[in-house]
Amino acid sequence: MAVIDVEKVISELKTGEKVDLTAGTDFWHTAAIPRLGVPALRTSDGPNGVRGTRFFNGVPAACFPCATGLGATWDTELLHKVGKLLGEECKAKGAHVLLGPTINIQRSPLGGRGFESYSEDGVLSGTLAGQYCLGVMEEDIVPTPKHFVCNDQEHERMGVNSIVTQRALREIYLKPFQIALKMSNAGAIMTAYNKVNGTHVSENKWIIDDILRKEWKWNGLLMSDWFGVYSTSDAINAGLDLEMPGPTRWRGGALQHAAANHKVAPHVLDERVRNVLNLVNLTSKSGIPENAEEKELNRPQDQALLRRAAAESIVLMKNENNVLPFDKNKSIAVIGPNAKITTYCGGGSAAVRPYYLVSPFEGVSSKVTAEVAFAQGVYGHKELPTLGPLLKTPDGKPGYIFRAYNDPPSVEGRKVADELHLDNSGTLLMDYSHPNIKSQTFYVDMEGTFTPDESGTYDFSVTVVGTGKLFIDGELVVDNSKNQKRGTAFFSMGTVEVFGSKDLNAGQTYKVFFQFGSGPTGDAANGSHELFGPGAFRFSGCKRRDEEESIAQAVELASKHDQVVIFAGLNNDWESEGYDRENMDLPPGSDELISRVIAANPKTAVVIQSGTPVTMPWANDAQALLQAWYGGNEAGNGIADVLFGDVNPSGKLPLSFPIRLQDNPSYLNFRSERGRALYGEDVYVGYRYYDKTQTPVLFPFGHGLSYTTFSRSGLQIASDGDKLTVSVTVKNTGDRAGSEVVQLYVTPAPTNSINRPPRELKGFQKVHLGPGQSAEVKIEVDKKEATSFWDEIRGAWISEKGVYGVLVQGTTAGGKAEDENLKGNFEVAETTYWNGL
Ligand code: BGC
Repeated sequence: MAVIDVEKVISELKTGEKVDLTAGTDFWHTAAIPRLGVPALRTSDGPNGVRGTRFFNGVPAACFPCATGLGATWDTELLHKVGKLLGEECKAKGAHVLLGPTINIQRSPLGGRGFESYSEDGVLSGTLAGQYCLGVMEEDIVPTPKHFVCNDQEHERMGVNSIVTQRALREIYLKPFQIALKMSNAGAIMTAYNKVNGTHVSENKWIIDDILRKEWKWNGLLMSDWFGVYSTSDAINAGLDLEMPGPTRWRGGALQHAAANHKVAPHVLDERVRNVLNLVNLTSKSGIPENAEEKELNRPQDQALLRRAAAESIVLMKNENNVLPFDKNKSIAVIGPNAKITTYCGGGSAAVRPYYLVSPFEGVSSKVTAEVAFAQGVYGHKELPTLGPLLKTPDGKPGYIFRAYNDPPSVEGRKVADELHLDNSGTLLMDYSHPNIKSQTFYVDMEGTFTPDESGTYDFSVTVVGTGKLFIDGELVVDNSKNQKRGTAFFSMGTVEVFGSKDLNAGQTYKVFFQFGSGPTGDAANGSHELFGPGAFRFSGCKRRDEEESIAQAVELASKHDQVVIFAGLNNDWESEGYDRENMDLPPGSDELISRVIAANPKTAVVIQSGTPVTMPWANDAQALLQAWYGGNEAGNGIADVLFGDVNPSGKLPLSFPIRLQDNPSYLNFRSERGRALYGEDVYVGYRYYDKTQTPVLFPFGHGLSYTTFSRSGLQIASDGDKLTVSVTVKNTGDRAGSEVVQLYVTPAPTNSINRPPRELKGFQKVHLGPGQSAEVKIEVDKKEATSFWDEIRGAWISEKGVYGVLVQGTTAGGKAEDENLKGNFEVAETTYWNGL
């Protein structure tokens, strides 16, 4: 695309065209003005993969580990590479603008989208996000840090008023944005849905004009979150450039009217348009044509990077008696609900259709030369697992046939309007359309066959935006077409899950027939289904298990093997955009399974897949424990690489894991209560609180073990003007190559005039060392940045004079972190105030 002369184009645009440029035209595209050479740009989700333009039956994509997993790598070089590959994936999907990274803060382990952001700490999150943005930008794609700001829960996310002090806003919630923008000057930002201190962010002049534009001098494009605009003049006057998605609700005729009647001044409209046109120019070198066809990359080098990221994200939380690494030549028992399914990604807009998946069971099986035995133990699903992947089409392909009609099943001789082969039976039809389908009201018959492996009672379920009936061999097993109740599925537009059951015989082939009516045929969404297109459906099922019997089988198997691994955790039903978790626990039955298997065989390794912390009442008894997040396409291989020692684990927790939910500082204030969420813990988020109150945690921020050991020595601190340089010698004292993360914390000056967290992360560096090898690690930080707090009286950062402490931490050798820390100090001679990035 050619570079456009922005000022010339503005001078030639008619008011109507300017108005058009300030809103999307459809779910993903901006408006084009062909007569002036302004192309339409394509945006695409999201943080851990590039979905392209389709939620429904989209083109497959690379999927990286969720952001907490990437956060656990503490690896800036890796994050840069991740960003670059996502930039290339954008090119394959024809997207000029990537809707990520997500850099909100995990106030609580319960946040439905907690998995999407890197860390509870702004320096870690912002630094990784900055590198990710730089990588994306290397491909001339524009990254979009989101959601600016304080969208830290899902409950009533569009209406909730996040009430936060100026100090916490600056020190905690704006911090990752501030750092990422300083590093990358990312060309776009997405506003949050919520209010901050009384005003929705998309029309909050103080946040978007005073802070972002004026104080930080950021001059990129500010877009709304999807349907997150609530006014015409207020939003445009506050500085919101682009309303997404289209067609517009608030601009168009309403904005023309406002512009004609001095509600929006001409220069303000021009400024919004200027930002849109600048965005066009920022992506011009990408070479992506308008409305490009969507393609797949999936190259061997990409798969290698995905695997590296999956393995590097894993945190070895415990490894007593060197249970790990396992021996590839010995048999192994693989147990648990997450073993044979691939929990690769959290739910909501971050989800992508993956190129391929590797389950933990497959990952382990590919390493072991002896027997790999399996026991399910318990299930881990919240909703029954989708049936789609278990079905077969008449010609034997995995999946089922989807036939759409304009007429209901009662019309005889109705014609097929569209026919597709699908494998996913849980999907939004959001962007589904076909020229033969004449209205939002249409009907779909879905058909495949199912041949169960085991005899028994099977439970089935249907969740819809619309209506749905599930038949097995002609018998109506689930009817979700009448008396519908609204639930949390499909961004809370769907019904609750409706169940039925049937006895099936192993080896017999059954016809599965799902009869669906699109959104308007249902009544649960009260018409609001249109927000997400013509509807959504999910039909699911699995064998009912006797939990006691099934756990007993797993225990028996564990007692017969030398090597045992349990895969448990959450999945994209438990952790998703649209709602928060209700508690911090594993799915029902998992704790019981884990405790009993560990008791039967103490040398069991427990692998937890979750985006955010879970309670682990059995943690003291587990000798080996890994936190494996949602690992993307290569989840299973990444886990197996670590379990068998092909990769030495180096992940460190980017979030604290509390013992109980009640210990979390946001416990009293996490949810919207009559429209507001009070950020009552102030700056004491995550480790800042646990440190201050000396509340014990299960695993602290920054924790993570290795199969080797490291020593730290020779701390040197050089303070030169604005720069603070901290250096230490790190030595790999074990017999295996491994990576260490040097974590630099600053502790407040005792003379500081304000109550402060006992330590705050200010810099970090990862270093790879061979056995016996040592290296000098130097971390440079800005002294003002490292010592300042936000002065609410002055409205500025203040670096107070005084003597500050330096604390260098890293992998512990199994002892207490305090015994292995290096400590020193430095002085700030003069008190100074500052603003800006
Ligand atoms: C999410 C955004 C996302 C957008 C487009 C919204 O629901 O909050 O993060 O980019 O949808 O899918």
